[in-house]
Amino acid sequence: MGAKISNVTAIECLDSRGNPTVWATVVLDDGVTGSAMVPSGASTGEHEAHELRDGDKNRYLGRGVQQAVKNIRERIAPAVKGMDATDFKAVDHKLIEIDGTENKDNFGANAILGVSLACAHAGANFRKVPLFEHLGNGTRLPIPLANIINGGAHADNSLDFQEFMIVPHSFQSFSDAIRATTEIFHCLKNELHRQNYSTGIGDEGGFAPNFKSLSEALDFLLKSIESAGYKPGEQVSIALDVASSEFYDREAGCYTLKKSSGESLYSSDLITLYKEWCAKYPIVSIEDGLDENDWKGWKEMTERLGSKVQLVGDDLFVTNPKRLQKGIDEKVGNSILIKLNQIGTMSETLDTIRLASDNSYTSVISHRSGETEDSTIADLAVGLATGQIKTGSVCRGERTAKYNRLLWIENYLGSKASISNPF
Ligand code: PGA
Ligand code: ZN
Repeated sequence: MGAKISNVTAIECLDSRGNPTVWATVVLDDGVTGSAMVPSGASTGEHEAHELRDGDKNRYLGRGVQQAVKNIRERIAPAVKGMDATDFKAVDHKLIEIDGTENKDNFGANAILGVSLACAHAGANFRKVPLFEHLGNGTRLPIPLANIINGGAHADNSLDFQEFMIVPHSFQSFSDAIRATTEIFHCLKNELHRQNYSTGIGDEGGFAPNFKSLSEALDFLLKSIESAGYKPGEQVSIALDVASSEFYDREAGCYTLKKSSGESLYSSDLITLYKEWCAKYPIVSIEDGLDENDWKGWKEMTERLGSKVQLVGDDLFVTNPKRLQKGIDEKVGNSILIKLNQIGTMSETLDTIRLASDNSYTSVISHRSGETEDSTIADLAVGLATGQIKTGSVCRGERTAKYNRLLWIENYLGSKASISNPF
């Protein structure tokens, strides 16, 4: 009978950083299949679901995922055999139940997510609909937050802050927004070249030169937006992912800019810096401006900046409804970054997005720094109509896979496609 799961298989494949990851396939009774590859972070939050690595130093420097693959083949496959793949929520429920741990420590969140996503794909394929239609009824394309300057844990350069993004928010279509992004990206490359800066790229495809200061990176963004012929603030703005948990010194209770000046700042000093930057540059969004456990600082940041700027919790909320609920209750942040592998199933991710929108928090669907050609997140952003996606720069195949999928969806939707400015 049709959508019944007859088997689940998996192999170890490679991600964009040359690390192993899980590639899972769900096979249905009638021969239809669905596949998905799991991403992996570098600036991983300490509250994320458990990514299972083999730890065997003789293979892939300990980073193998053979155990996760084995868990799928030998423990998950028999448990979900015979279930209806179109009901991915029931399958996810089963996965959570048989794992039986809060953080998916038993099978590994990478094993569980691989199956969860492959099941969603198999269900869509069975119904002969694109994945985004299977996940929701959205037809709105997301605004890209494109990370064209990389720093932090994603590049060997002088930038402590991880991501300097451009946000093309005032265009009539996704294709126009991505064209503007690409033109700005090329203008940035020319300008870097002209000033003898490196044009080598970091993990997410953004340039990664040794700028003299953090604000110099912002100046370059501004200049590139202008030289591409766009109006900063009006058409294209700036977003940051500070990823500050990476340089928070817990003992000292301060943030140390160890890749650049070595300077140490308290939460309130950083907030003041953001405030000054927001007055000088068209910054519309700041992610992880403070540490994943600095709830007090986050509250202050929300009070001082939250009415003007989108404050996105990534390591703070880890796509987890419980942590998001704490944020809502304590009036912390106003937006959540959504990463499927932080929580580990499609269904829980959808629940978190719903909780956010019910409480007027925006959701930014996100890739990881370690990615593959899998483009599931593009469908998630459209199906759930979240309005924003963060999926890196406009080069490197694992990043463009998502943008290309969005271009395909926009064309597929034709006159039904829309895009709107959240800023
Ligand atoms: P990560 O980076 O995938 O390395 O965690 C992305 C982010 O911090 O948003
Ligand atoms: Zn982040």
